[in-house]
Amino acid sequence: MGRAAAILRGRFWLGPGILVSNQDSHFFNVFSSVIGILIAITIGIFVYARMLGGAESSAHAVIDPLRQAGVTERTAPIGRVAIAGQDNSALVIAPPPGAAPAVVAALPANGEETYKAICGVCHGAGIGGAPKLGDAAAWAPRKAQGTDLLYKHALEGFTGKAGVMPAKGGRPDLTEDLVRQAVDYMVAQ
Ligand code: HEC
Repeated sequence: MGRAAAILRGRFWLGPGILVSNQDSHFFNVFSSVIGILIAITIGIFVYARMLGGAESSAHAVIDPLRQAGVTERTAPIGRVAIAGQDNSALVIAPPPGAAPAVVAALPANGEETYKAICGVCHGAGIGGAPKLGDAAAWAPRKAQGTDLLYKHALEGFTGKAGVMPAKGGRPDLTEDLVRQAVDYMVAQ
């Protein structure tokens, strides 16, 4: 079909081999103007948003120390790790202000008190095979081992024929001195 015939039948000739009908060009015009309007609306919304957000603009937010502190707080890690051999004093958990001081079991003052508070639980009645306080027959062979070994067994724990003696009587917070004094007290009875 020739070029002239095509034009006669309502088609435009755009170039060699490209024919556009009247309907197509109408669609093309409407389509481009819709796209154009949408682009204009987009740019309008963008400009409007910039105007609204100007006061809160990012430059301002970065400078504001209060805002920065808030961000630091919100993004702070939940937990921190104490590393052996380093100063971890900053990680000590402080009681909330106004809270009652933490209840720490008070240490006994001397050997006798230590015995009464801790060792006597077993050694008073001979629980679990513990040599009873004042039971000369039970203590004689133990005394014979020498006080140093008794100290060692009391401090580090000891499993003998009679039963299990827990290290420091099961109170690891006792000072070594108190344990030795308690041994002295028990041996002296
Ligand atoms: C949970 C019970 C228990 C408590 C608490 C306990 N002991 Fe004992 N203790 C034992 C038993 C059981 C033995 C006997 C172990 C054996 O000879 O088989 C023992 C033995 C000993 C001996 C003799 C060790 C030896 O070499 O013969 C000493 C000294 C001693 N205890 C000291 C203490 C002191 C000091 C305390 C408190 C700080 C204490 N014990 C608290 C259970 C206990």
